[in-house]
Parts: sequence; structure tokens; C-alpha cells
Amino acid sequence: MDKVIPVFDIKIGDLEKKFIKHCLEKSAIGQGHYVREFEEKFSNYVNCKYGVTTTSGTTALHLALKTLDIGDGDEVLVSSSTNMACAFSISHCNAKPVPIDVHKDTWQMNTDLIEKKINKKTKAIMVVHLFGQTVDMDPVLALAKKYDLKVIEDCAESHGVEYKGKKVGSIGDIGTFSFYVNKTITCGEGGMITTNSEKLAKKAKSLKNLCYGEDKRFMHTDIGFQFRLPNISAAMGLAQLSQIDSILQIKKKIDERYKKNLNGINGLNIPKVNVYTNKYIMWVFNLFVDENFGVNRNELCDQLRIKKIETREAFVPINMQKVFKKKFGYKDNECPNANYIMNNGFYIPCGNTITNDQIDYVSEQIIKIKK
Ligand SMILES: Cc1ncc(COP(=O)(O)O)c(C=O)c1O
Repeated sequence: MDKVIPVFDIKIGDLEKKFIKHCLEKSAIGQGHYVREFEEKFSNYVNCKYGVTTTSGTTALHLALKTLDIGDGDEVLVSSSTNMACAFSISHCNAKPVPIDVHKDTWQMNTDLIEKKINKKTKAIMVVHLFGQTVDMDPVLALAKKYDLKVIEDCAESHGVEYKGKKVGSIGDIGTFSFYVNKTITCGEGGMITTNSEKLAKKAKSLKNLCYGEDKRFMHTDIGFQFRLPNISAAMGLAQLSQIDSILQIKKKIDERYKKNLNGINGLNIPKVNVYTNKYIMWVFNLFVDENFGVNRNELCDQLRIKKIETREAFVPINMQKVFKKKFGYKDNECPNANYIMNNGFYIPCGNTITNDQIDYVSEQIIKIKK
């Protein structure tokens, strides 16, 4: 291979260009009809009544927490193995992220561990539907009901994914999405919250737009944020959304080909999809090695780099982040499975433009490195 095979890339088609050109021609580059249409159509796609766009998945999480009144001294239970946007958004609300370990085989939050972490300060559970599968939501909803907790679903990595026939983002109080460039559909940068509550949607809309007063514009009703997604970005998102079925087809083919090539290799493991994810959509193609592979994860990724294959290591869990250990006193061994994934997990190139030859080349190189 002459060129590096990147971990992700995207296809930008004629529709994205047409919609963006339309914004430029109309000078509608701030707020405009693409924002409203994207909110309407995307929330509809995830079976929610309301969608409120934001500038990123991170600001969507922050907005969701603020909308649900998470604040000083509150505790929010969250998957330990996740993007730190989750923990940072909780921390920016002056609340404490309480890490919950994940299952070693599926990498999703282990809901059996939630109840013993609930105390008087606990206000919410933030589940993260990671890598295109789902957390088991029934026990989460039952605990939320029992202890009067709010449920936020972070669906940054699971657009269109279904739990027992329900689209993620429509199950808890609020769902959050990221449209960063490596996400299933993208705006470049962007996010959205989804909800079926008119009250929450109204509050989120106000909070994300500086809480301008309804009667007197510059007498603000609360301390707000400026999290507005520009019309140009929404135009891109809308164009992508209209092609989501073909994007999902591409992802399915990549997933199937890698699975065919890499299944059954001693020491090389593909995370399992759990039984309650009835619509799985591979977000990135993950692997983890164990001692039978004969080469550790870091060495494997170093050798792949020499072969011009990009890889990305698995998340460093919340309880292992230095800033949080200092602030909250987390222990290294709090979430052993999340730590195991941190040390052994990685993902391989799986962008929408990857060819079958590239998939086969990546697979062959991994197999060649095994001892
Ligand atoms: C699970 C998860 N949550 C939140 C985010 C944050 O999204 P953004 O990068 O759009 O702020 C990401 C980003 O990759 C993510 O993977």
C-alpha cells in the first residue's frame, strides 16, 4: 500500500454540496431553515418528538445535564470506559462522575453494578451506547424509577441503533448525539439532544441560546450557553441523514468482511454484540488481544503503523484519568474490565471509503504479526 490507511474517512456527496451552496447563496449561514429541518427529521428518525441541535456531542451532554438540573455536589453514574466528554460535562456542572465498570466481552456498562453505587447524592444515570450497540436499558429504567433518577443516553456512537425494538435516544429522559466527522452521520462538528418531553425541549432550547427573555430580549431568564449549530453545518447533517440507509449498508459490509477475515484467530478477539441490541450498527471495528496472540496491543499497533495502517487505542477509563484521580480519589482497580480494555483494545481502519482490498490487506497484516 502506498498511502496510509486512515482509521476513518467520509464520503461527501453532491447533496451536501448542494445544500451548503444554497446556504451561501442565500447568505443563510447563521441560523436558518436547515437547523429546524435537521432537528425535525433527525428526532423523527430516532422516534422522538423533539430535537435541539448543539455545537457538538460534548455540548449536547452539557446541555442535557443542565436541562435536567444536575448541579453542585450531585453524582451521576456513568460508564467508566467512554469518551471523556461524558465525565467532563458532568464535572463542568460541579457534579461528580461515578464510574461503573463495563462487560469485558461487549464493552458496555454492566448494569448489575449500578445499584450499589446509588446514594442520596445520586441524581442521574448516564448510559453510553458504545460502538453501535446498546446498554441493557430495562434495569437502568427500573433503578431510575425506584430511586427517582434521570436517565441520559449518550448515543454519539450509535445513530439508528435499537434496543429491543426501540431507537436509542428515545428511551431515557434525554438522548444526546454527536455529529463529529468520524460519526455515522456528520456535520463536521455538531450535536443534538432528543427528548419526548415538551418541557425539557423548551428548556434546552432556551439554555442553548443564552436564555434570551421572551418579553424583554436582553433580560435573560437564566444563565445560558451559546451552543447554536450553524445553518451550514445543519445543511450538511440533513444531507447526510437523507443518505443514512446507504451509509449503514457500507458500514455493514465493512463489519461483515472484517468478521469473515478475523474470526477464530487464537488470541484475537472481536467484542460480542449483546442479545438486547436488536439493531447493531458497527461504529468502528474494535479488537482486543489476549496472551494467546503472542504480541501485545502496543507492539501490534506499532507494527501495523510501519505497514501504513492507522489504529486507535481503546479509551482510558474515567477512574484512570489523572485529573479525576486527583479530584475525586478514584482507585486504579475500581473498574478492572475497563482497564483490561484500555490495555488490550484498539480499532482498525473502517472509514466509509475503505476498499475490500484495503480491508483484506489490514486483516492479512494482523494475522502475519501473530506469533
Ligand atoms: C461516546 C461519546 N460521547 C461524546 C462524544 C463527544 O462528541 P463531540 O466530539 O462531538 O463533542 C464522543 C466523541 O467522540 C463520544 O464518542
